[in-house]
Order: sequence, then C-alpha cells, then structure tokens
Amino acid sequence: MNLTIDAAAIAADLDAIAACSDTPPPGVTRVVYGEADLRARAYLRARCAEAGLLLREDGLGNLFARWPGAEPDLPAVASGSHIDAIPHSGRFDGTVGVVGALEALRALRRVGHVPRRSLELLIFTSEEPTRFGVGCLGSRALAGALNPAQLRALRDGEGRTLDELRAAAGFTAPLEQVALAQGTYAAFVELHIEQGPLLETEGLPIGVVRAIAAPAALRVHLQGEGGHAGAVLMLGRRDALLAGAEIALAVERAALSTGRPDTVATTGRLTITPGAINAIPSAATLEIDVRDVAAEPRDRALASIYSAVAEVCGRRHVAYQIEEVNADPPATCDPEVVATIIGACTELGLPYQVMVSRAYHDSLFMARICPTAMIFIPCRGGVSHRPDEYSEPEQISQGVAVLAHALAALSA
Ligand code: GLV
Ligand code: MN
Ligand code: MN
Repeated sequence: MNLTIDAAAIAADLDAIAACSDTPPPGVTRVVYGEADLRARAYLRARCAEAGLLLREDGLGNLFARWPGAEPDLPAVASGSHIDAIPHSGRFDGTVGVVGALEALRALRRVGHVPRRSLELLIFTSEEPTRFGVGCLGSRALAGALNPAQLRALRDGEGRTLDELRAAAGFTAPLEQVALAQGTYAAFVELHIEQGPLLETEGLPIGVVRAIAAPAALRVHLQGEGGHAGAVLMLGRRDALLAGAEIALAVERAALSTGRPDTVATTGRLTITPGAINAIPSAATLEIDVRDVAAEPRDRALASIYSAVAEVCGRRHVAYQIEEVNADPPATCDPEVVATIIGACTELGLPYQVMVSRAYHDSLFMARICPTAMIFIPCRGGVSHRPDEYSEPEQISQGVAVLAHALAALSA
C-alpha cells in the first residue's frame, strides 16, 4: 500500500490543539470539561466531519468518529487516545494518538482504501487524573470498570460533581449507556509517544507495546493539630506536614525495597492546611502513584506504604485515612494485533523494538474489552509531562504510517 502521510496537516492539528490551553505557552494545560478542552473538542469534531466521519458522543464525552466499512455490522477496528493534558505539560502526550489516528484514516481514504470492517477514531475523556483524581476515566467507564454509581460519586477538587460538570460541558446522555459490550471492537490500536528514553537511545523509530504496567494511586489524609507557629512549643506537636514528609520518604523506600528497577513510586501532590507560614499544619493530603510492570511487587510496595503510614502516624499521634483510588492489574497486549503492527513495520522497512509501557494509557482498559496493542514513537530525551516534550514531525509521520498500515490490515 502506497500511503502518503500529510505531515503538514498533522502539524497544523497539533498546533491548533496546543493553542487550546488553560495556561500560556510553552506549557499546555487542558483539564477535562474546561474551556480549553471544549475548544479542542470543537476543533476535532470539525476535522472529523471534514474527513467524512460519523460522530457520536457518549454521556462522558468520549467521542467516536466512524468510517463505515463495507460490512458495517462486523465489529469495528478502532484507534485513538486522549487530548487532556496535565498542568504545564506538553503538546504530544495523547494528542499525537488522536491527530495521528485521524491522519491515518484520512491517508487511507486518499488512496481509496475500502475497509471491510468499520474504522473508528476514539477520543477518550480524561485519561489524566487531574480533575477527578482517577486516570483513564473515559476508557475505564467504557470497559465497565467504573459503573454509573461510581461515576456519579466523583467530584473535582472544588467539590463539583462529575454529573454537574459533564452536563455543563454539554454531555447529558445517560451514564448507563457508556459501557461497551465485549465484541464491540475487533481490535484497538493506540499510537503514543514513548514517554521514556529507550527508542531514542536505541535509535529506533517504532516501539511495539506488548504489555502495560500496573498503576495504583493512593490518597492519604492526615489529621494532626494546628496552632500558632510561635506560641506552641515543639514538644508534643502533632504536625500533619511532618508526618506527610516522613510518609513521602517511606514511599521512596517502598519502591526501592522491592529490589526491582521496575517498581516506581511518587508522591506527586502534598497539600497542607491551613497553609500559612506562621501556622502549624493541621491537616495534609498526599497523592501517591505506585507502579510496576507486574502486579505482585507493585502490591508489595503498596503494603509497605500502608504499614509506614500506620507507623509514622502512631508515633506522631496523627489520625489517618488511606483512600485507594485505584490499583489496576497490568494489561497484556493481543499477540495478533502486536504481530499486525510488526507486519506494518516490516512492510514499511522501519526497525522496531517490542517493549513494555511503563506509563498507563487508555489501552490498559481497552485491552479488557477487545484485542489491543500500542505503537510508540520516540520523544526527545524521553521527556514527557513537561513543556519541553517533543517528537519530530518525521517520527510522528512514521508512527502514523505504521498505524495506517496496521488499521488497513485489521479492517480488511
Ligand atoms: C499517564 O499519563 C500516566 O501517568 O501514565
Ligand atoms: Mn499523560
Ligand atoms: Mn497519554
């Protein structure tokens, strides 16, 4: 198949979406259901309509843009990713997989490809946990891993409910209709930047993902006792921040204690109350991210964090509550979809490496409902979740070419 990938169109799409940001450049911030997210969605809806795709949105705002196949009743083949961006991050994470899938469909249309199975672009709502604290919100719900009651219980940091926020964003369809039946899709392929350094180090243009690491997130709420920073003497203080600081160090130790380079743990947020220089912190909340490519050592690290919290809080007389936001199993990619992607690399003469994704992706949940695999492209220095995240236009086009070939094969 002699496809041409329109790098200029991809660059224009990336530019337009990067311009939809809650913060000024160079960083990008796009929080789900925020004004920038809604502008980016409007832009993409217009591009999908222009490409002749049929649009559908569910009650969460997951967007489905379909190119009906010659046998439209067969399970479709899908590709896509997310467009939300964590605060002050880059313009490629997620968005490359959305505009890349759109360009793959446009490229296939340009050469007159007639898919037997329908092809569908998916734009998942809120892969990032920024607003509601849980990652992969849209794909989690599509896979039935969050039911409508659990969705309704979600609130953002300002106490606004998911229901209220989705309605304000124009998504009012029933949450009961979000979950997809097994068999809806024959295959799902997600294109994404690697977010790590391996491809660049090896000088390889493509990574073929065979498994996705198991993520977990905890929220630890600490309640100590506040007071005047000058008037209350040190002895007997119940400083919630100091308990939190000890816990953050224990989180680092927990990751190191498994003895595996694959275990990683991060305290990404620590908020304190009341937050005044001359007040003893009375309360603190830590948000902790723990991962491994295997669930068992990840769970061992979680267990040592639980016991550290109990030990530190007992010693410091601080009350605590641990909220386990999620502790998901890893996903194994489908061997046939992996083989199809490898076939596409071979056809295009592009060297590749089969690898594991340490970041999580919507594919983690799509893998629960259909055969799934991912295509990685290099990003400079392995940098992601930072404003200087970067992939070259040529690297993106190569990833899109592999995706287009894989989608053509899977939809034949
Ligand atoms: C996704 O953004 C992740 O944190 O892995
Ligand atoms: Mn991300
Ligand atoms: Mn991502």
